[in-house]
Amino acid sequence: MDIITDPHALQTRAFEWRCAGMKTALVPTMGYFHEGHLALMDHGRTNSDKLMVSLFVNPTQFGPSEDLDSYPRDAERDAQLARDAGVDALFMPAPESMFATDHGTWVEVPGLAAGLCGATRPTHFRGVATVVAKLLVLAMPTMAIFGEKDFQQLSVIRRMVRDLMLPTTVVGRPIVREPDGLAKSSRNAYLTSGERRQAPALFKGLVLAHNMVMGGEQDVDVLKKYVISYYTENLPDGELDYLEFVDPESLALLTRVNAPCRVAVAMRLGKARLIDNLCIDPSDRLVSEK
Ligand code: PAF
Repeated sequence: MDIITDPHALQTRAFEWRCAGMKTALVPTMGYFHEGHLALMDHGRTNSDKLMVSLFVNPTQFGPSEDLDSYPRDAERDAQLARDAGVDALFMPAPESMFATDHGTWVEVPGLAAGLCGATRPTHFRGVATVVAKLLVLAMPTMAIFGEKDFQQLSVIRRMVRDLMLPTTVVGRPIVREPDGLAKSSRNAYLTSGERRQAPALFKGLVLAHNMVMGGEQDVDVLKKYVISYYTENLPDGELDYLEFVDPESLALLTRVNAPCRVAVAMRLGKARLIDNLCIDPSDRLVSEK
């Protein structure tokens, strides 16, 4: 595996691969790898000729009071895991090589970035879209692979790639969970043992909403009321940021679940801010009734 730190060296390598007719995959990450990242790499390795992984804790997607300095990092362990996962090139740039001090160009997708996480993290998706645009220009991969845990991020990136006509297919892959249902996340490392015991209730609340829809409930106010009272009881240390039912394409807030939707949640739990989401398709109910 090559470790590349210079952005233009990555661009040269990626250009050679693509000109040689190879199918290439990029998995953009901020490191501190867990099984979720490894599943994305596995998908890339089995579906391409060359697999690139970027490891860059992107300062521009953190707000001023957020966890940029304390974000978990372990570059050596990550490099070994990437090697074991069959990665061909691990791109680990220094922050100043990605963002010059007078960097002044930003990519924004305001329609999709305003609600949900964007409501409390107003500059987050601008930072994500900008760094992903740069990574796609450098690595020019045939496909770029992202996890569905960051569902809003995936929507923003899909729209950006479509609007800018970037020559990359965006692939979303399912959330990888702990056996108790908690979505894998580098930020789970922040949880104390007491918080970790409560954390699986975050997903269980979404499953409760799913089961209620399967039972015939469509009113979002009713669904929210039940899930929020479930959280109050089972996640007493959590502070709910949002719980919303959204259209999976436009991310518009729904008042009734009468078509496929995503229920998305964000919760502060101690030092961690946890997010999760689940697809709910009310037509599954009709299928199971047949
Ligand atoms: O999902 C992440 O880890 C980051 O937001 C990403 C896509 C690598 C951009 O920094």
